[in-house]
Amino acid sequence: MTKRWIGRLTIGFVTILGCLAFVFSQENGKDDSVSSSAESSTVLDFTQPIAFPHTIHAGVDQIDCQYCHFSAERSVDAGIPPVSTCMGCHMVIGGSDEVQQAEIQKVRDYWAAKEPIPWVRIYKVADHVHFPHMRHVAANVDCTTCHGEVKELEVIETVNQPLSMGWCVSCHVEQNVRRDCTVCHY
Ligand code: HEC
Ligand code: HEC
Ligand code: HEC
Ligand code: HEC
Ligand code: HEC
Repeated sequence: MTKRWIGRLTIGFVTILGCLAFVFSQENGKDDSVSSSAESSTVLDFTQPIAFPHTIHAGVDQIDCQYCHFSAERSVDAGIPPVSTCMGCHMVIGGSDEVQQAEIQKVRDYWAAKEPIPWVRIYKVADHVHFPHMRHVAANVDCTTCHGEVKELEVIETVNQPLSMGWCVSCHVEQNVRRDCTVCHY
């Protein structure tokens, strides 16, 4: 067990050194900036199959976050709603302009085909990390603390990304929450 952790710490340390070396090499080769910005935009490509706006749903219509992400308070995962949740409204609401109608038609097509919408996952920790939503919701840590002002976002942004150990641990230190390795690692 201890050996495994030492191994992982070593890997982590080597990774950090690797990143530093990469940053330095980028700094030295600034004239190559076109290709390096193209690289970073591929890494952050979270284009969704349907342009789902949180601004309309959570913003204008003030639908509660947990109406859709209904398992956040009782489970490890917040969950992404099934198409049936969408159809509760979009059986009737078809959109008020052509752009909206085209996007909502896609929702209806998935429903008719009995297929789940293949949403691209944005927030994800590595498999060896345990993150229980319900513990944070129960402790009144607001969704916005970790995900930003989602109701003002046309497209979900990558606030607090990449999810790092330092980010988790510094809040746990601040709020005096347990932070021995086994709290978060299997
Ligand atoms: C009408 C349903 C609905 C409501 C209400 C809603 N969401 Fe979402 N949410 C979705 C869908 C669908 C996705 C996947 C598409 C996307 O990423 O935009 C999503 C994605 C997300 C994600 C990114 C998930 C990932 O892949 O990592 C976060 C974070 C999130 N929502 C937070 C919130 C918060 C906070 C609120 C309340 C302010 C909220 N949502 C309200 C439906 C909803
Ligand atoms: C509680 C009702 C409700 C639910 C549930 C709901 N929507 Fe909507 N949705 C609306 C309303 C209202 C509009 C705005 C329509 C208008 O202005 O004519 C809208 C608009 C949209 C649009 C068009 C936005 C644009 O600007 O192009 C899309 C796409 C959409 N919804 C997808 C979804 C998806 C996907 C889900 C399920 C995850 C969902 N909706 C769940 C009420 C809802
Ligand atoms: C303390 C920080 C924190 C808070 C508070 C938080 N989240 Fe998350 N959220 C995360 C992390 C970290 C992940 C990635 C978890 C994983 O990969 O297992 C995530 C993932 C998600 C996802 C992706 C799908 C899933 O099932 O995990 C959604 C949706 C989401 N959060 C919505 C919400 C909503 C809605 C709230 C408020 C009710 C909320 N989150 C509160 C940190 C937080
Ligand atoms: C903004 C503050 C904040 C951030 C960021 C945060 N946490 Fe937490 N965490 C808390 C609070 C508050 C609790 C609740 C402690 C309690 O229930 O008494 C908690 C509880 C936990 C627990 C349960 C602890 C136990 O005693 O069993 C785990 C596991 C956990 N967090 C993992 C994570 C991971 C992994 C991340 C980063 C991906 C993270 N947390 C980010 C504030 C935070
Ligand atoms: C509050 C939660 C939390 C605690 C406590 C915590 N970690 Fe982490 N740890 C994380 C997160 C989150 C990551 C980043 C995972 C990712 O990249 O998705 C991480 C990454 C790591 C990595 C890098 C592994 C890799 O795959 O790159 C190592 C090694 C590690 N942790 C060891 C430890 C050790 C040793 C301790 C105890 C001293 C510890 N962690 C305590 C949350 C935590």
